[in-house]
Amino acid sequence: MEKAVFVALDYDNEQDVWNLLEKLGQPTETALKVGMELFYHSGINLVKELVQRGYKIFLDLKLHDIPNTVYGAAKQLAKLGVNCTTIHALGGSEMISAAKEGLIAGTPTGQTVPKLLAVTELTSISNTILRDEQNCVLPMAEQVVSLAQTAKKAGADGVICSPLEVENLRAKVGDDFLYVTPGIRLSGNHADDQKRIATPQKAREYGSSAIVVGRPITQAKDPAQVYAEIKKEFN
Ligand code: C5P
Repeated sequence: MEKAVFVALDYDNEQDVWNLLEKLGQPTETALKVGMELFYHSGINLVKELVQRGYKIFLDLKLHDIPNTVYGAAKQLAKLGVNCTTIHALGGSEMISAAKEGLIAGTPTGQTVPKLLAVTELTSISNTILRDEQNCVLPMAEQVVSLAQTAKKAGADGVICSPLEVENLRAKVGDDFLYVTPGIRLSGNHADDQKRIATPQKAREYGSSAIVVGRPITQAKDPAQVYAEIKKEFN
């Protein structure tokens, strides 16, 4: 995966998407993340249209179900021509392997299999929730490493994590794995609801393989200028 900067399209309607895309650059130079909100509103037709226009798409649906169901879902998603997609590592190694097999089975001949990225612990999970509700005996950092190792062994291509976790993960899980990081802010930006943030430059230094940026671009007065600035800083 080249060092992409995915713009998170966290919108509840298509018009806002097209308004933003009009302002951003060439589709072939633009990477987009479609999450659950937009997908559940506009569905596969919008994803197909974006792929057809030449955008690189990260489809972030965070699959988590029994292996057979995840296999079938991944097989369908692979037909869309997206660049990468997500599952929850907490679904277990059998489910992760099934997702990978589904992506391979569903990818049309001659096309590239979408990269499979595993979400470890969501950044909304605190140490207290991990201990008291998930009954996990490991501290957060070790739990994230353990889930990333499981995901890698099961065939995932990488994980979604905080930029602040990448150095440790690279040391313990390896450089032959992707580390895709949200939680990105330019210096001077508002953190919004993100807690563990880094600038694009820091993300590059920590070793992020690709970054995901939403509000700093989508809510900017000049989204194209901010997107270009972030790409330049990250690359
Ligand atoms: O607006 P902002 O830059 O905070 O958006 C970050 C994007 O990355 C959102 O789409 C959010 O859902 C996603 N994300 C995240 N943290 C994770 C996984 C995904 O912020 N651990």
